[in-house]
Amino acid sequence: MSTDPKRVKTSDAELSLEQIAELLPGTGEIMQSVGNAWWKCAYAARGGNFDLAAYFARRVRSLQHKLAIVRPKYAEDLASFERDHIAPVLSACDAGDLGAFERAHARAVDAANELHVKWGKAYIRWTLPEEAPTDLDLRPDAGQDARRSKR
Ligand code: HEM
Repeated sequence: MSTDPKRVKTSDAELSLEQIAELLPGTGEIMQSVGNAWWKCAYAARGGNFDLAAYFARRVRSLQHKLAIVRPKYAEDLASFERDHIAPVLSACDAGDLGAFERAHARAVDAANELHVKWGKAYIRWTLPEEAPTDLDLRPDAGQDARRSKR
């Protein structure tokens, strides 16, 4: 076994810290999750489940914090995006205001696509899918039944 403190032994391999760092999710993987959460965020709000919409907006914020760590060159743009676009979506969720939500969500999509252009990925143009996700209860009272049955 290596005595190099920078090497980590697993049951299958011995890896350097550099190798482990290279295996962290990159921008593409993180953005795929961001797109998924942003889609669900929109339809949760449209269904009236603003708690779920806020959950997905916070998920995007958290994914983008992770991206800022692994790709610091994006940190400044991600911080501005959080302040100018995620915060208003969260405020609209808090207020349960669908009109404000739709405006803030759409503005965020435009800003994200402008950032894709800025970073040399003009061919990545995110659009909100026309269909709602079917794996989650999007109604305002989702979870009520489960909460009631626990009493
Ligand atoms: C809600 C906001 C956003 C959505 C929905 C979104 C969505 C996406 C999607 C779906 C991809 C393609 C992922 C794949 O490879 O499968 C992507 C890529 C990318 N996004 Fe975003 N994005 C958002 C915000 C941002 C922000 C704020 C930045 C700031 C720098 C950014 C920078 C990038 C970059 C650089 C790529 C290219 C990935 C690579 O180099 O591998 N995006 N985005």
